[in-house]
Amino acid sequence: MATAIYPGSFDPITNGHLDVAARAARLFDRVILAVARNSSKSGLFELDQRVGLIQQAIADLPGVEVSQFEGLLVNYARSIGAGTVIRGLRAVSDFEYEFQMALMNRQLAPGVETIFLMPRQEYTYLSSRLVKEVAGLGGAIEDFVPVAVADALRRRFPQSDVAGVSSAGDAG
Ligand code: PNS
Repeated sequence: MATAIYPGSFDPITNGHLDVAARAARLFDRVILAVARNSSKSGLFELDQRVGLIQQAIADLPGVEVSQFEGLLVNYARSIGAGTVIRGLRAVSDFEYEFQMALMNRQLAPGVETIFLMPRQEYTYLSSRLVKEVAGLGGAIEDFVPVAVADALRRRFPQSDVAGVSSAGDAG
């Protein structure tokens, strides 16, 4: 049974992540989206919330599961029998960071291979960071994230700044 791990912060999961997960699911029997607990990086959503949102988003993807981990990714990968790490590669700008991580992971665990999958072209500009920024400023994020995530973002940023933009327009 070929198992791959797809690690990330997933704060929150986007349609780009989901697209990569779906591609990975066509290549592996089991794909585990693993949300990293990073004590030095505080996210918008708590770890459990991120896991819950992923759970809802992957409900229709057979062979895809979600978990969380702490510590070194390669140790966790080995502990669950995952021989492959999946990472999404959107643009050249991703490459440097991904290259460093992949080679460090290879040094730490030569038996764990990293493979990169490209999301659909229309998701190549998408990132959790931008989605949060747009949501925080009242922009529409429905095209970028699964329904449950869009709902969670709306709850997180209840008052839309769009109102502010239109009143500024009225004044001008
Ligand atoms: O979505 P992100 O934030 O780009 O994901 C980065 C992640 C979680 C994959 C990376 O920070 C990671 O693997 N963290 C676990 C700790 C670890 O193994 N660090 C060494 C990586 S070379």
